Amino acid sequence: MKFFIDTANLQQIREAHDLGILDGVTTNPSLMAKEGISGKQNVLNHYKAICEITDGDVSAEVISTNYEEMLAEGMELALLHEKIVVKVPIIKDGIKAIKAFATKGIRTNCTLIFSPGQALLAAKAGATYVSPFIGRLDDVSTDGLMLIEDIRTIFDNYGYPTQVLAASARHAMHIINCAKAGADVVTAPLVAITALLKHPLTDNGLAQFLADHAQATGKS
Ligand code: G3P
Repeated sequence: MKFFIDTANLQQIREAHDLGILDGVTTNPSLMAKEGISGKQNVLNHYKAICEITDGDVSAEVISTNYEEMLAEGMELALLHEKIVVKVPIIKDGIKAIKAFATKGIRTNCTLIFSPGQALLAAKAGATYVSPFIGRLDDVSTDGLMLIEDIRTIFDNYGYPTQVLAASARHAMHIINCAKAGADVVTAPLVAITALLKHPLTDNGLAQFLADHAQATGKS
């Protein structure tokens, strides 16, 4: 399973990259705004800065909602860097744009997926990734993980190459359950990724090993 980090924060992207486990980055307009990035040129420069840190794909989201403008915006984003994947919302014009991008060889991430039918349409249009938002489904008392399982089944039934990118993952158990459900990618905040490291028995065990070693070598 690939690990993407879900942030526009350069320091956190560097930290995840330095861990050696980072396969890519996802952003969205809210995450860009959270970092105080605004104005077209600043946004484009920020995407370029992200591309320079990571070795993998970087999702950059269009803010247009009509076909022609999505195409123009997505083309500009795609030309920025070869790592850019154009992120497009699952709306009617978005599906048309995904199809057009696929024809041009431009990779896409279809976002704001909340149902298996939306994922199926995006795959049919030729999306590189679909992003089902599991945390936001959990927020409204709906099982986000079940959506990952359903999309996995549908894509496997027909051999769609579209990758299931589990998004809106908020904690370590989301990541583990997405791996069990066969997601191709999980994108999560750094805190959720590093939480996978934690276990009190690891801390206790390591403290004991170091104490025993110190005692054996007369250093205690
Ligand atoms: O990748 C989509 C993700 O950013 C949404 O996460 O936590 O805002 O639901 P969240």
